[in-house]
Amino acid sequence: MHHFEYRDGVLHCEDMSVTDLAARFGTPLYVYSTATFRRHFKVLADAFGSQRSLIAYSVKANSNMGVLATLAAMGSGADVVSAGEMFRAMKAGIPASKIVFSGVGKSAEEIKAALEAGIYQFNVESVPELYRLSEIAASMDTKAPLALRVNPHVSAGGHAHISTGAAEHKFGIAWHEAKSIYELAMSLPGIEVKGVDVHIGSQITDLTPMRAAFEKVVSLVRELRSMNVPITRIDLGGGLGIPYREGETPASPAQYAEMIRDVLGDLDVELILEPGRMIAGNAGIFVSKVEYIKERDGRRFAILDAGMNDLMRPALYQAVHELKPVISNDDSPVIDYDIVGPICESTDRFAKDYPLQEIHSGDLVAFMSAGAYGAVMSNQYNTRPICAEVLVDGDKAALVRKPPTFDEMIANEVVPEWLTT
Ligand code: LLP
Repeated sequence: MHHFEYRDGVLHCEDMSVTDLAARFGTPLYVYSTATFRRHFKVLADAFGSQRSLIAYSVKANSNMGVLATLAAMGSGADVVSAGEMFRAMKAGIPASKIVFSGVGKSAEEIKAALEAGIYQFNVESVPELYRLSEIAASMDTKAPLALRVNPHVSAGGHAHISTGAAEHKFGIAWHEAKSIYELAMSLPGIEVKGVDVHIGSQITDLTPMRAAFEKVVSLVRELRSMNVPITRIDLGGGLGIPYREGETPASPAQYAEMIRDVLGDLDVELILEPGRMIAGNAGIFVSKVEYIKERDGRRFAILDAGMNDLMRPALYQAVHELKPVISNDDSPVIDYDIVGPICESTDRFAKDYPLQEIHSGDLVAFMSAGAYGAVMSNQYNTRPICAEVLVDGDKAALVRKPPTFDEMIANEVVPEWLTT
């Protein structure tokens, strides 16, 4: 469910018309709906009801400060994967006591910063990282709260590139080594063992593989407890999928929570959840203007002012985002377009043979479900400025990221003095 709908043929975000937003802020433009963020957070929180749980929003999905502040105000925690994300989360008002730090490659500086901040949990993914964490914590006279991310050897996810739970993936410690590594962790001076962590992939629409992974985790927790390893938390990662096209019906948060309750049975444990896409995906759209319609060799290209640098998912994962005209006219003929951007790469194509109401130069189109892994993955290839982001709340709209000027884009680059003298 989201708050993007047509009113009198014009696409709206809550009470704001997307045409007005584009006129005011320019294109390409990311548009986010506060009501949708709030709704998604609440639906998930309600689904877990009285179960002791921390929703640690996965900052990587959309790390805009306006978005983080919206979620912070709802009581969200944060799942971060870098010191930069931790910095953002705390600046936006998420307390360190609700932050978990994930990722395979934490640097010594990142670990130190997180210990100084006093975060809730480190999700550790290897033995060398475990030693490093213990050493740094011990040198600071403290103990790091730890979960080990186990790799359950269950594969899932919407695309091969976003699947993480199989043996071949770099993530987590090997399933069969888990118990011995927990014993090692118990023996280290800078570690306080707290939990077990798992994350098997992203855009998972069928709960079967998740269930398989979670069942393994629950049995591991029982075994660890019988070995006197004091596990009090399970971090179930993120991964719940969303509908990208009308008619798609992925597992709902309620079904997800029900499955988890069933798998936990009578196990008394605190849960940590790291949802990213489920919170942010359908809370944002990406708006672009048609520059040209180019007809050639029997194909019709709609050339947009947005490129793969602004929205990478189609080029990277062959993802198809539903595309809608911002002004819809049911009388227009529906025509197949190749939807492309201005970048000098053949992969700069959002969709091929995409049926759309006839569009013309100057018209606006909207990529739906672009709130997660959209703006955050954008870059400045072809020296195209990172585009604007706008957050809407009812009839209010705020520019929550302004694009850099050309001067700002080159400000941190230096021409060596031997070329200037
Ligand atoms: N926790 C961990 C440890 C993760 O690696 C991820 C995502 C999440 C939580 C959040 O997963 P979510 O609930 O959003 O599925 N760029 C890709 C998705 C990459 C996901 C990476 N990890 C895409 O655009 O589809």
